Formats: sequence, structure tokens, C-alpha cells
Amino acid sequence: MNVGILTIATGKYKKFVVPLYESIKDNFLRGHKKLYILFTDEPDEMKEMLRPLSIDAVIFKIERRGFPGDTLLRYHHFSNAKITLSLLGERAPDCLYYLDADMLISSEVGDEVLPTKKKKLVGVAHPGYWSRPGHSALGTPETNPLSKAFIPQDRWRLCYWAGGFNGGSFQDFMTMSETISYRVNQDLDRGIVAVWHDESHLNAYLSELQEGVKTLTPSYCYPESWSIPFVKRIVALDKNHAEVRS
Ligand code: GAL
Repeated sequence: MNVGILTIATGKYKKFVVPLYESIKDNFLRGHKKLYILFTDEPDEMKEMLRPLSIDAVIFKIERRGFPGDTLLRYHHFSNAKITLSLLGERAPDCLYYLDADMLISSEVGDEVLPTKKKKLVGVAHPGYWSRPGHSALGTPETNPLSKAFIPQDRWRLCYWAGGFNGGSFQDFMTMSETISYRVNQDLDRGIVAVWHDESHLNAYLSELQEGVKTLTPSYCYPESWSIPFVKRIVALDKNHAEVRS
């Protein structure tokens, strides 16, 4: 498999990319060919930082929009990259994974995360809302019926997926990206930003697919300083939100 790894790093998030890529090299889908696909506001600076890693990278320049624009428009960046990526010939990815820049692969992540014939998209049960006694598994879906990320209550019980790691076959991931970016635009045209930005739209889209989604445990989006009964495989690093967004 050719595996494309999508990451967005603008502003202060750039410092996270090298450690993330090193951890992916060591621990993520070993035995598959990896293409690192980076969206950044400073391609030259990032090229220099990545040089010692000798990895196969494709870098796209994007504009920095701050918070929440950077996160809300992530699926726009992915769908804009579709043609370039599909024209890479032998290097063209068969499947794509998005990872937040401030994550690390802390133990081996293998073929269990690959999409299957029936489940072509892959998401992670949010670490804050997985099912356990006394805790709600419902998460924080968009409840405003005017938003295109709105999820009717009868679909709430399925799962609440985390926005930090997801993936799928190239075609299915791109179809999702195109649909979400269209819906985000429809919201923006009406002055609406969904409660958890892109994550709300991701949840709406995945909840429509229902059984078509492979849902991984919170092992794959494990907040660094939390203690939940899962193996830490992909860690979401503790950070000072105000500082990195500044
Ligand atoms: C928080 C997380 C946010 C968002 C939110 C959803 O724990 O930091 O990024 O996922 O949960 O309720």
C-alpha cells in the first residue's frame, strides 16, 4: 500500500512536525510505503527542517488563518490537493490518514487501522466520550439544525469521533473532504461555524455512513496526561492552546 499522511502545520505548530514524522517512520504502518503530505504557511522553512529525515514529502503552501479557520478549513486543503496527489504515478497514495501535528505515535500502529472493502473510512472514538458507566458516549454533536453539521438525535448513539486522527481509501477520504468542505462553505455563507468546527462536520458525515466506518478505540487519540484503560498508541500531546495558537 502507498499510504499518504496528511498534516497541517502553520505558525507555532511547525515545531511538532519533525518529532511526529520520526515517530511515524518508526511506528506507523511499517512495511507500507509512506508519503508525507504537509500543508504549511512556510514551505521553505519546513523543507529545511525535514531534510535530515530523508523522507518522501510533498509540501503544499497554505495561508495561515489562525483559530478556528486553520482547523475548520482542513478538508478544503485536502480536496484542493486531490489532483496533484492523484497525478503522482507510482507515489500516488492508495489510502490517506490525517494526523494532528501535535501527536506522536508512541507504540506500533499496524494494519488494524487500514480501511476494508466494507469500511472504507476509519475514525477514532473520542477519548472523552467512549462508553463507560456514568459517562456519556454521546459526545458533543452539532445541535443547531441550521448547520450542515447538524446530527439528528436518532443518530447520536452511534459514536462521537475525534477530529485528530482519521483516514480511509484515497477516493473515499477525498469524497468525504469534498463533501465536508462544501458543507462548511454553506455554513459560512450563512454565518454559521459548527460547535467543534471540522470535528462536527466529520461526525455528521461519519454518522451518515453508519456501518461503513471502521471505528478505532481511543488508543489512537490518547491525550498525553489522561488515564483511560487503553494502550497508548497515538498520543495527543499536552499543549498550551493559547500559546500555540498565538
Ligand atoms: C475536547 C477536545 C476538543 C473537542 C472536544 C469535543 O476534549 O479537546 O478538541 O474534541 O473535546 O467535545
